[in-house]
Amino acid sequence: MRKPFIAANWKMNKTISETQEFIRKFIPEVKDSSDVTIAIAPPFTSLPAAAAMIKDTGIILAAQNLFYEEKGAYTGEISPLMLVDIGCTYVIIGHSERRQYFHETDDTVNKKIKAAKKAGLGVIFCMGESLEEREAGKTFEILQRETEKGLEGVDPESIVIAYEPIWAIGTGKTATTEQAQEAHAYIREKLRVSYGNKADELCIIYGGSITPDNVDSIMACRDVDGALVGGASLKFESFSRIVNFRR
Ligand code: 13P
Repeated sequence: MRKPFIAANWKMNKTISETQEFIRKFIPEVKDSSDVTIAIAPPFTSLPAAAAMIKDTGIILAAQNLFYEEKGAYTGEISPLMLVDIGCTYVIIGHSERRQYFHETDDTVNKKIKAAKKAGLGVIFCMGESLEEREAGKTFEILQRETEKGLEGVDPESIVIAYEPIWAIGTGKTATTEQAQEAHAYIREKLRVSYGNKADELCIIYGGSITPDNVDSIMACRDVDGALVGGASLKFESFSRIVNFRR
């Protein structure tokens, strides 16, 4: 049985005080949610404040990025060990916004995943096709490439895959349950090639315009094991409702 994994990706939002206000209100809402793994990924600047507040709650602290070197002359970058030091146990890698705006390639993503795992961090590994790629019938080709290259030489321990179709991110256009299930089942098939039956234990979560209104139906899909939530994770009311989705 895969335990549902629901993560908030706050992207470049929330100051330290806004982070503290959110977490203060959020904790009581999820105290009975032990059947769901909950992760919050605030911006780097809010990580220490968030770490202090969620210490004994079971909520996972995740970072939104890292650099793959351990230390050195890389101005502006944050190493895996620094994230561990601050209390992170997971990190988001391969988000389409990183690929699009910061030119991360499959190779960079693979290096980052390996570096994260070497430091003992779990990874939320994102992949997904653009609208043009979907319309050109290339969805599976993209998912195959991103899965194979991103996970080359990586063991599956503490890897969560996030399928995030780029056309559904921040657009209010969620994948249909059929589209989500089809993509997730395909990714699981690809994982089976490398990992055998372990593929059935891996969480494959969906991201892209998840809201309190659509979370229940998306979560009902057989191969959807959770959600990576952007916009709707910024308000504690909506993220609480998403975490407490109805089965
Ligand atoms: P939205 O939920 O705002 O569409 O963002 C999804 C996402 O990119 C999460 O990583």
